Amino acid sequence: MDMRTVTLIQGDGIGPEICQSVIDVFAAAKVPVQWEMAMAGLEAIEKFGNGVPPETLESIKRNQVALKGPTTTPVAGGHKSVNVTIRKALELYANVRLAKSMPAVETRFENVDVLIVRENIEDTYAGIEHMQTPNVAQCLKLITRQGSMAAIRYAFEEARKLGRKKVTCVHKANIHKISDGLFLNVFREVAAEYPDIEANDIIVDNCCMQLVSRPEQFDVLVLPNLYGDIVSDLCAGIVGGLGVAPGGNIGRDCAVFEAVHGSAPDIAGKGLANPTAILLSSIQMLQYMGLIGYASAIQSALESALADGVKTRDLGGTASTSEFTAGIIARLHLEGVEGKTVAARSNAAAKAPTLIAEDWQLVGADVFVENHGLPQMPEKIGPFTLRLISNRGTKVWPGATPDILLVDHFRNRYVAETSVTRADVLALLQELTAMGKHWCHVELLNQVAGEARYSKAQGE
Ligand code: NAI
Repeated sequence: MDMRTVTLIQGDGIGPEICQSVIDVFAAAKVPVQWEMAMAGLEAIEKFGNGVPPETLESIKRNQVALKGPTTTPVAGGHKSVNVTIRKALELYANVRLAKSMPAVETRFENVDVLIVRENIEDTYAGIEHMQTPNVAQCLKLITRQGSMAAIRYAFEEARKLGRKKVTCVHKANIHKISDGLFLNVFREVAAEYPDIEANDIIVDNCCMQLVSRPEQFDVLVLPNLYGDIVSDLCAGIVGGLGVAPGGNIGRDCAVFEAVHGSAPDIAGKGLANPTAILLSSIQMLQYMGLIGYASAIQSALESALADGVKTRDLGGTASTSEFTAGIIARLHLEGVEGKTVAARSNAAAKAPTLIAEDWQLVGADVFVENHGLPQMPEKIGPFTLRLISNRGTKVWPGATPDILLVDHFRNRYVAETSVTRADVLALLQELTAMGKHWCHVELLNQVAGEARYSKAQGE
């Protein structure tokens, strides 16, 4: 079988110890992988003043697959997180985590086997935040058709490849009707292309409740970034914590697999580190590369070592990192593994998603104004009529202002009878400026065939 080259970033703290475990197990299992060592983290910062040197990114791009040990992010010195740098530089659009019950890892639940696919770039993680007034902060939650489609399609492709039966979309589209609504619509669109896989959806709060009561009902979950961040740690918790949680970051051209835990400086160099999470990540990596025979052989050996009580101290055992590794190697059964391969993951997820075009009609603008107390706003300006004023989404005008806490941030909805232009909106803003209104934020109101492309205020 052809040898494949994989970039190996050993990382900091316990990184080199747990990576050695993967190197040893792969060598014993005769996995057709050769390692290309690359640097990231503290050593790279010391040598190059950069946590992720360009050569490391080049190596990952060249080999298309990397395994990464944990890296320490120095608190001082303004160094960017190595993980975030790699994720952004390589546009790793989906984060994949497996939460699977392990033998001899005591938890409240048995038979949990959930694959969590999280959109990895956008949502509130685009990091677009502004103070609107001294008292009001705003973060843009960006959900895009393209970003959602890439992650969702990856979830279905993985489900099919791993023989999983069901993909569940986790969202809050009952409240975030437009943003999470888009994620859910894209999910339904993609699901229709995979009739062999059951598709359903669940609201994120109910999903959390179900996960901590009946986690065995879930198979594959796909989520926008923020819910995915939280729910994937919740899932790690129900199978025994971050020590046994593997993960991968998937991009259009490459993928980086890593344990979810950190560099554990408190136990580094003492032979106490548990390599389970990075071994599970390397198993995910082998599945991604299509080397499924090797992946199952290593998974079985790892599970039987744990079941036989060969465990590191964090799991209540006495084995050192190298004793645990030797225990896995002793339990490897390699008959027929070489023949069991499938095609490496297709790049279907990265197929350029179709950009849709719509004939939008501009009908007005929401003008946000900073004011202490209900502002006196003109009811008519040019083609626009003031329809409502809201505070934190609740209508406060027209009609009696409800007895609610008012903040210094009022949304004034100006709407025209017919379609208007951007120049009309500009004139509206100029007029408000001339009147001394302290506007701080503007959103255009568009519609398509009478259907609004914006949300209605509570009480509107
Ligand atoms: P941590 O995960 O390194 O450690 C938390 C606790 O879990 C410690 O008591 C540690 O000894 C234990 N632990 C973690 N992994 C273990 C393993 N494999 N075997 C046995 N015990 C283990 O989290 P912490 O202390 O918050 O972060 C330490 C450093 O790691 C920080 O610089 C942080 O930035 C970095 N970090 C890196 C990550 C990555 O590269 N993926 C992820 C999380 C943190």
